[in-house]
Amino acid sequence: MSLPAAPKSKRVLSGMRPTGTLHLGHYHGVLKNWLRLQQEYRCFFFVADWHALTTHYEDPRIIGENLWSMVIDWLAVGIDPALATLFVQSRVPEHAELHLLLSMVTPLSWLERVPSYKDQQERLKGLDLATYGFLGYPLLQSADILIYQANLVPVGEDQVAHIELTREVARRFNHLYTKQRGGFALPEPASLLTPASKMPGLDGQKMSKSYGNTIALREAPASIEKKLRTMPTDPARMRRKDPGTPEKCPVWQLHGIYSAEDTKAWVQQGCHSAEIGCLDCKKPVIDAILTETAVFRERAQEYLDDMGWVHNIIDEGCAKAQQVAQETLGEVRHAMGIRYTP
Ligand code: TRP
Ligand code: SF4
Repeated sequence: MSLPAAPKSKRVLSGMRPTGTLHLGHYHGVLKNWLRLQQEYRCFFFVADWHALTTHYEDPRIIGENLWSMVIDWLAVGIDPALATLFVQSRVPEHAELHLLLSMVTPLSWLERVPSYKDQQERLKGLDLATYGFLGYPLLQSADILIYQANLVPVGEDQVAHIELTREVARRFNHLYTKQRGGFALPEPASLLTPASKMPGLDGQKMSKSYGNTIALREAPASIEKKLRTMPTDPARMRRKDPGTPEKCPVWQLHGIYSAEDTKAWVQQGCHSAEIGCLDCKKPVIDAILTETAVFRERAQEYLDDMGWVHNIIDEGCAKAQQVAQETLGEVRHAMGIRYTP
């Protein structure tokens, strides 16, 4: 008989904005990491719909359109509601109250100097981001984290500054309120840096929606095959008999993710000598990606056939999350002297 699992003492929290379809870059970067974390920690994973609204407030429909499909993507890759609490941010409005309370003690300059504030305004030129909500979104993220008293937050490089802000806000809160009213302090979270996804896209650049070089997590097999068959190769191999250099070819990068050493040796040899054609070379990659995604499509279909099941998972997750959030908020109100009932 196996021993009972050790209690998961540390809490992990992470959120994802529902602004588009998830692709293999998300899988090989963020989601595989979540799969590991859910085994080891008490995990809270949520759909950051309010965060999406800070940038997509003019076209909020895409949020609702992507929300359920994102939850299904999570479930399809194996995020397990028995191991992790899955919920939707706006269904736990306690996040908003904590955001408000923290806003009272957060100097404006702390938000203005968060690097993503100016960067994103520059990058997303088409959107008017000179809003109160956009300035405040790193603090909303702090509230997301602190309300679950999370210890670890898996994030990419671009989000590390937000975790640092969260630590500063927790320290300030603790400095102002903890001493007077004994006991409760907000724990300072640490960031758990997710290595940048090495998943290359169809053109050899990093796989990203903005480059239009993605394969969706649950893309149809025919479409996957077509994209891979038509993806560019080393331009030196104009004709079948022209030798090539794998290092100059995006297909080689995919072999780096999907192929074993013997296959890679076969590619090197066959490409340099022109003994294999590019379609031969792509075959093992096509097979590997079709196999990898077949599981996702199958699992997703089970959920798509029974959306009530998916709604239940989220209902239960929201209820569990809300219970934790309410406990923290009670302590916060008490520490601030605004809990008027015993
Ligand atoms: N801001 C994150 C992003 O854009 C999403 C997010 C919102 C998040 N709240 C969070 C991530 C809390 C980690 C923890 O990707
Ligand atoms: Fe690229 Fe393979 Fe063709 Fe070489 S044989 S150019 S590695 S696809």
